[in-house]
Amino acid sequence: MSLLEVRDLRVSFAGENGKIPILRGVNLKVNKGEVLGLAGESGCGKSLTALSILKLLPEKAYFDGGEILFEDENLLEMDANQLMKIRGRKIAMIFQEPGASLDPLFTIGNQIGEAIEKKLNDPCSVWLPRSSKLKVMSEVERLLGLVKMPKPKKVLHQYPHQLSGGMAQRAMIAMALAGNPSLLIADEPTTSLDVTTGSKIIALLKELRESFKMSILFISHNLALLSQISKRIGIMYLGRIVEEGPTDEILNQPCHPYTRLLLLCLPDPERRDRPLSSIPGSVPEPAALGAGCAFASRCPKKIEICRIKEPEMKKVGENHLVACHNL
Ligand SMILES: Nc1ncnc2c1ncn2[C@@H]1O[C@H](COP(=O)(O)OP(=O)(O)OP(=O)(O)O)[C@@H](O)[C@H]1O
Ligand SMILES: [Mg+2]
Repeated sequence: MSLLEVRDLRVSFAGENGKIPILRGVNLKVNKGEVLGLAGESGCGKSLTALSILKLLPEKAYFDGGEILFEDENLLEMDANQLMKIRGRKIAMIFQEPGASLDPLFTIGNQIGEAIEKKLNDPCSVWLPRSSKLKVMSEVERLLGLVKMPKPKKVLHQYPHQLSGGMAQRAMIAMALAGNPSLLIADEPTTSLDVTTGSKIIALLKELRESFKMSILFISHNLALLSQISKRIGIMYLGRIVEEGPTDEILNQPCHPYTRLLLLCLPDPERRDRPLSSIPGSVPEPAALGAGCAFASRCPKKIEICRIKEPEMKKVGENHLVACHNL
């Protein structure tokens, strides 16, 4: 059933005074055809989790334990050749700034075409015969059609700076689809877009998930947005998932004090007079974390044990898990 299973993933940075643990035992599962949402404040490790799954860690970061099982094989044990068959093919990723992920020097047709040629596994893809090039371009046009790009024939010959943010994100999604992925990782794909364009991209991803039978790991700090696309949501705090469950339970019966506070930060359309809340305090520095619960310093529900021992995940519903001592 599960396509991706991350088990006790630990990633640390090499700091001047020793190691700084950033991912401190992340556990998550994405089942076939499912959308898992991942939420949490800035700096809690959402992007690092996504990059780990592609084994693309930033400089000075290293894997410090755990497993990333994709179709039951541990990505962390694969060599470069094995990874090449997975990255950009079985697992694709789209990012927050679509403009920045596209190469300004090449047309959209050429960039998506390159992704298709890679899939065809042609070592001399740049020098494909003209007839094959034409086939590739018609495939690019088909993909642009699938992502509902306006005027796809024209876009083929355009450069990234000639596209709006929404069009650039559609181009990125088309590029991701070129490999026919079974898992799409979407890291804040609508954050740089206006609300209407963002909603259209979400609707498109929902549609593509169904037609391509794709699984999606959808990352966003916006719980309201996540609830539109995900059946299950994981809440991350300082490098760990602290609550995970079906979307309606997370929204309506949140158990972790952090999840409750995150939800209070959402604007309520029916209570426009209510001032927006924010979570008191700030996310502690990972290097300064003590032994207890990482959220204890900001938690309104903390009890004595919270300062001493990090809580384990406990079952509070059929598929609902929470890491909190005070339940
Ligand atoms: N080069 C680096 N050296 C040390 N720490 C780093 C480095 N890059 C990232 N980090 C730390 O890794 C942590 C996780 O960062 P990450 O980008 O995964 O957060 P995020 O949840 O995606 O945040 P955002 O919502 O802002 O995108 C942060 O605490 C950040 O400070
Ligand atoms: Mg991020």
